[in-house]
Amino acid sequence: MTQILTNRSAYPNTRMRRMRRDAFSRRMMRETILTPDDFIYPVFVLEGRGEREPVPSMPGVERMSIDLLLEEARHIASLGVPAMALFPVTPMEAKSLDAREAFNPDGLAQRAVRALKDAVPELGVMTDVALDPFTTHGQDGLIDDSGYVMNDATVEVLVKQAVSHADAGADIVAPSDMMDGRIGAVREALEAAGHIHTRIMSYAAKYASSFYGPFRDAVGSAANLGGGDKYTYQMDPANSNEALHEVGLDLQEGADMVMVKPGLPYLDIVRRVKDQFGAPTFVYQVSGEYAMLKAASQNGWLNEQAVVLEALTSIKRAGADGILTYYARDAARWLNGQAG
Ligand code: PBG
Repeated sequence: MTQILTNRSAYPNTRMRRMRRDAFSRRMMRETILTPDDFIYPVFVLEGRGEREPVPSMPGVERMSIDLLLEEARHIASLGVPAMALFPVTPMEAKSLDAREAFNPDGLAQRAVRALKDAVPELGVMTDVALDPFTTHGQDGLIDDSGYVMNDATVEVLVKQAVSHADAGADIVAPSDMMDGRIGAVREALEAAGHIHTRIMSYAAKYASSFYGPFRDAVGSAANLGGGDKYTYQMDPANSNEALHEVGLDLQEGADMVMVKPGLPYLDIVRRVKDQFGAPTFVYQVSGEYAMLKAASQNGWLNEQAVVLEALTSIKRAGADGILTYYARDAARWLNGQAG
C-alpha cells in the first residue's frame, strides 16, 4: 500500500491546460475555423421599389424590394459570402389553390434572380422550391378535399417552378417541400431543359419544427396556415434513421447537396449524415434559432457576437460544409474584423 503511493508521481503527466494556456497554442490546435465562405444569406423579397419592412419576430431582419436587395447583394458579396437564398413575399391576390404564381416567369422570385445575376453575377443565387408562399392555405403543396397535401400533383408544380427559376438564371434550386420523388423529377426536367449546370440543394432532412414560426410571419404564410401543421410531410423531430433514409434517396435522385434543418437542436443528425454519405452537407440555422439568440442578446442576457459565432462554429464542427443563417452578414463582418 505504502509502496504504491510513493511510486506515483505527485504530478499529472498529461496537462491538457498547457495547450490552452496561450492564444498561439490554442490557435495551433483549433480544428474548426469559421469563414464567410461557410455562409448562405437568406433574404425575404418584396414587390415594389424602395420598400423595406422589418420582420417583428426577427429584429434586424428586413424584407426588401428588388432594388434594395441588389445593394444588399453587393455588400454581402464584398464580405466574402458566396451565396444568397431568396424567399419571395407573395401578395395575397397572387395566392391561389393551384399555386400557379410559383412558376410565373415574371414572378417576384424569377425577377429577383434575373436582377441579381445581372447586377452581381459572382454571387451564387439559390431559390426556394415549395408552394407555401403561393397557396391560399399556406401548405407546401396542393391539397385534396380533406386538406391532405397531394404528393404527385404537387411535384408536377414544383418541377415547373424549379425550371422557371433555372430559366431565370438561378444557380441553385432548393426544394424545401418534402414531397417524395421531387428531386428526381426536378433533376430530369432540368436536364431535359438543358439546365445541366443547375445545382440542386435538397432540404432532405427537414423536420416538422416549431422553430419555423418567425419565418412564416416573414413570408406571410402563418396567417394562411392558421392552426394547420406540416406533420404529414415534414419529419418527426423524434427520428434519426429516417433522416438517413431521406438523404440517401435524395442523393440517388440527383441532389448535389443535402440539408439538415433546423440547426442547433439537430447536430446529431448532421454528424450522422456527414459520416454516412460524405456529400456536401448544409444546415439551416432557422428563424426561431435567430429569434432566440437575438432576443436574449437584446435583453443583455447573452453576448451576441460570442454566442452567434459559437453556434455557427458548432454547426460546422458537427459536419456542415455551409450554413444558411440570417446572421450571415453580421457574422461575416465580425470574422472580417469589422465592428458591429
Ligand atoms: C417553406 C420553408 C420554411 C422554411 C424555409 N422554407 C418554413 C416551413 O416549412 O414552414 C423555414 C426557414 C426558417 O424558419 O428560417 N417551404
